Amino acid sequence: MHKIVLFAFIFCYSLQVNAVIKSSTNVDSLLSLMTLDEKIGQMTQMCFSTITLDGSKSLDLNVDNFKQLIKQQHIGSFLSGSDSYAKWFDFVTAIQKVAVEETRLGIPLIIGIDHVHGANYINEGTIFPHNLMMACSFDKTLIEKVAKVTAIETAPVGLNWNFSPVLDVARTPYWPRFYETFGEDSRVCAELGSAYIKAYQYVPEIAPYKLSACAKHFIGYSDPKYGYDRSPSEIPMQTLHEVFVPPFRKAFEAGVKTLMVNSGELNGEPVHGSKFLLDTLLRRQLGFNGVIVTDIKDIERIVKMHHTAANEKEATLQVINAGVDMYMACNSYTFIQHVKELLSEGKLSMAQIDASVRRILQLKKELGLFENPYPSKKLLDAVNTTENRKVALEAAEKSIVLLKNEDILPLSNSTKILVAGIGANSKRMLNGPWSFDWLGAAEAQQPQNMLTLFEACKSTFGNNNVLLSKTERILTSADKKQFLKDTRKADVIVLAVGEQPYSEFMGNINDLTLDADQLELIDAAIATKKPVVLVLMEGRPRVITKQAAGVKAVLFAGYPGIEGAQAIANILSGKTNPSASLAFSYPLAAGHTIPYNHKPSEFNIYWKPEPAQKWLYPFGHGLSYTQFEYSDLQLSDTIITPNGTLKASVKIKNAGKIRGTETALWYIKDEVGSISRPVKSLKFFEKIDLNSGEEKTIHFEINPQQHLAFPDKAGLYRLEPGRYQLIIDNKSLWFSLNN
Ligand code: BGC
Repeated sequence: MHKIVLFAFIFCYSLQVNAVIKSSTNVDSLLSLMTLDEKIGQMTQMCFSTITLDGSKSLDLNVDNFKQLIKQQHIGSFLSGSDSYAKWFDFVTAIQKVAVEETRLGIPLIIGIDHVHGANYINEGTIFPHNLMMACSFDKTLIEKVAKVTAIETAPVGLNWNFSPVLDVARTPYWPRFYETFGEDSRVCAELGSAYIKAYQYVPEIAPYKLSACAKHFIGYSDPKYGYDRSPSEIPMQTLHEVFVPPFRKAFEAGVKTLMVNSGELNGEPVHGSKFLLDTLLRRQLGFNGVIVTDIKDIERIVKMHHTAANEKEATLQVINAGVDMYMACNSYTFIQHVKELLSEGKLSMAQIDASVRRILQLKKELGLFENPYPSKKLLDAVNTTENRKVALEAAEKSIVLLKNEDILPLSNSTKILVAGIGANSKRMLNGPWSFDWLGAAEAQQPQNMLTLFEACKSTFGNNNVLLSKTERILTSADKKQFLKDTRKADVIVLAVGEQPYSEFMGNINDLTLDADQLELIDAAIATKKPVVLVLMEGRPRVITKQAAGVKAVLFAGYPGIEGAQAIANILSGKTNPSASLAFSYPLAAGHTIPYNHKPSEFNIYWKPEPAQKWLYPFGHGLSYTQFEYSDLQLSDTIITPNGTLKASVKIKNAGKIRGTETALWYIKDEVGSISRPVKSLKFFEKIDLNSGEEKTIHFEINPQQHLAFPDKAGLYRLEPGRYQLIIDNKSLWFSLNN
């Protein structure tokens, strides 16, 4: 009799479980059915390397390992791998099948990936320029296109959570993640980052599938005091609110579903262990209510790096009390045990655990994972297409910045070109880091169907017109001799110099100056008296001041992606008219890196005149093969009131012979502030296409709350009466804000 009752109970219970899951999905009902182990499993994210056969990122599933893991530890999320579409497809299908069909509650997995510049962890993925270069396009529509292609190429294999975009504002080029950001200006980061998020999270083409973006890394990561990755930042709260918070705030307005925490230390506290930063600021003040995930192994870091907890159990308490929902544990299960112990000791409450699990289940629900947990063959038709490659070419062309051009570019198609330097014949230098591998795959593992700069120049200028020098750097006198020999037949020397790809701490440096052996190569090229064109393939501005003076042209290509070589060749040949502008300031000297919107200093008052040149190339600088002239700057009034608006307009004319695109950058300077104000701040930007001879009037509507107010150290915005200067190009006008 007892057995019958028990059986009936189990039967009804499982019916109830299935009913809850099928009604897809009442999160609270599901939560009420979960055991403690199942809940903590949802809060744990493991690396795929723990369930692959050889522990690598290639996707050969160790089925037994995986089944054991999911049944015993109830893991709810995995991350990181690199393989072909076919392998991804089978792998994700297999693991979701186990999660959905062989576990008690059938909760699907959420799978994280760093597709930070296209589908960069899929062998056939389209690789776009990194964010820093995308920012140099100042083009929201382009970012939207790139985000959409990234989603279209990510969704078909069941990857549903992209750890992108980076919303850190790059304030020092010493920081090795400079290239992952949208540059040094907070507004540019906010506008482009939120455009990416909106486009990535809402893609009708992949319906019924949906993807989540992840705003990272909250907060204050990108201005480490000593430049090294994850070394401490000391940022005054006022600056934090004015410079670092706005891109995140805008991302929340754009509906970003998840956020990753900075694993560094800010103002003396590890951010992932800070109740003030994650609870008071992020949750309460900024109102973020999505899922908060730590960065990789951050509980371990609290013990080994920050030393604010004596052991991992204490660190776990810090992190959960701060407000983290999911721990990116990667390869250790101690988190699970520690949470259990902390609960039984009464140091953590079940309400805290439930709040996090509820958010995670809600995310899975919003992504439609309960209905569509498996990858889709149908969507595979839209990956790796000619159309997607066209977007990659457009992105590279629109983000490569022409920094200098002394009557040399475009090159005529009969020019004999010598291509040399570390980027001359390398695909790795184009795709850069986070491409098939964290550090960028080795040369032999790069895609077959892409060109190096040498190859793209040959296809553009003709095989017989382009020569390759094998000299990448001048280390010995023999290198120099060989290089000089190679230059003999050339009319022009194109040198692709810069930085071998690096990620995170692997890019820590002590000196921003370009490597001496590459500078030697440039010097040797200049000494031939032949025109030299520098192509900079680098993740941040490396100092080249002396050499830049001796060459005829300089292009900043950054890491321009899979079509990068063709884009550079198109710019060299004039097929493409460059249109990008620097989204960062290119330093003059390694010891003096200063963003454009710095605070005023003593120059001109007690000391000596301000230097005529503060940067090698300033923020916003970018040349074209045509010229643009600004005229007739006007304001609708000289007075603005707090709730009013002012209309500004200016005329831009293409005074050159070919069609071109100008980046219009509107700045405002606040003359006097109760808190010291930057020398000027970018308030609005726009791209303008103009045919030869064409003139357009462009407009900017000044709104005091959006463009004149600034935050205090509590993050409360002040709007102060007084004089403001509107600046565009070399034109300016003053206006006043009255009460
Ligand atoms: C990086 C994150 C990244 C994570 C997962 C970390 O080392 O800081 O940006 O999302 O790894 O790959």
